[in-house]
Amino acid sequence: MTGEVTREEFGRLPGGEAVELFTLRNAAGVEVRVAGFGGVVVSLRVPDRDGRPGDVVLGYDDLAGYVGDDAYLGALIGRYGNRIARGRFTLDGREYQLPVNNGPNHLHGGPRGFHKAVWRAEPLPSTEGAGVALAYTSPDGEEGYPGTLEVRVTYRLTEASELVVDYAATTDAPTHVNLTQHSYFNLTADPTRSVLEHEVELAADHLTPVDDTLIPTGEIAPVEGTPFDFRRPTPIGERVDAPHPQLAHAGGYDHNLVLRGEAGELKLAARVREPGSGRVLELYTTEPGVQFYSGNFLDGSIVGKGGARYGHRSGFCLEPQHFPDSPNRLAFPSTVLRPGERYASRSVYRFGVE
Ligand code: GLA
Repeated sequence: MTGEVTREEFGRLPGGEAVELFTLRNAAGVEVRVAGFGGVVVSLRVPDRDGRPGDVVLGYDDLAGYVGDDAYLGALIGRYGNRIARGRFTLDGREYQLPVNNGPNHLHGGPRGFHKAVWRAEPLPSTEGAGVALAYTSPDGEEGYPGTLEVRVTYRLTEASELVVDYAATTDAPTHVNLTQHSYFNLTADPTRSVLEHEVELAADHLTPVDDTLIPTGEIAPVEGTPFDFRRPTPIGERVDAPHPQLAHAGGYDHNLVLRGEAGELKLAARVREPGSGRVLELYTTEPGVQFYSGNFLDGSIVGKGGARYGHRSGFCLEPQHFPDSPNRLAFPSTVLRPGERYASRSVYRFGVE
C-alpha cells in the first residue's frame, strides 16, 4: 500500500484567510499532520515498541495556538535559522540591518519569519508518495533581507517511516538563506515528562562555541572531554547541568554541532533513543551542522495540545542547518545564494523502535 494524504480546514486567521491541514499516513501506522501556516508539523504519531501510537512532537490544538506561538513549535524557519549577530551583515559591499528580536541579535528570520507565513500548500502528486508541497514567495526586503526569494518545501512520509523534508529556493538578488525545521520532540509521547532520559548520539567531533548572547566566537572546538561529546549514546540529563561555561551561556544545550562528513551528502547526524517506549529517531541531513537544543527556555508557560503545560526540557530540537552567524563568519560554510543558483537541502527523520 502506498501512503495517503487527506486535507481539511485547520482554521481561519484573524483576517479570515483559511489555513489547511494535511494528514499523511503510511501502512506502518505513522501519521503526520502539516499546516499551511508556518509549514508547521502539528503532530507526528509513531508506534512504540508494543505498536501503540503516540504523538512525539509538541504543538497546539488549534491554529490560534500557532499564530500566538513564540517558541517556534514545529515550524519551518527562514530565511535564516538561528542567530545573526546584531542583525547585521555586509553582502557585496552593501550593509543590511535585520530586525533584532533576541537580545541584541536577530533570530530565526525575525518576528515575521517563515514560521508566521501562510504557505501555498498542495498534496504531492501520488507518484511522489504521500506528501505535501509548500511554496512561499518572500518579497525583496522582507524582514530586512535582500532579494525576492521563491521557496519550496516538501514533506514526504515513506513506507520506511521516514519524514523526508526537501528545501529549495531561488533568488533574484544576492541574499542569505539557511532554512530549517523546528520540531520539539518528546519520544515518550507524554510531554508532561522531561526529555532528560532520552539517549542522544551525535555524529559530531566539534562544536561552534558561543558568547553569552549565543553568537559563535568563530572557534571550531573539539567535543572531546566536554559535555558536548555525544559520540557515544548519552542521556541528555547526564551532563546538561554540568558546570561548563558553554552550558551556562545557554542554560543547557543550545549549540551548533559540526557534523562529520561532506557538505551536501546525506549523512547520519543524530540518533535518539527513548528507553521506556523503545522509540528511536534518526536524523539524516545534507547540512553541515545541527543545532541541539534541550528545551531550556520552556518554563511551563506554554499550554499545548490537550491542555498540557510544556515544562522545562519537555522537548528537544535537532535543527539541521548551516552554522549560526555565517553571514559574518567567512570561515564557516557559506549561506550566500545568488541569482541563477538553486538552494537545495534535505533532512530525513526516520522513526523506529528498539
Ligand atoms: C533555537 C535557538 C534557541 C531558542 C529556540 C527556540 O534552538 O538557538 O536559543 O531560540 O530556538 O526558543
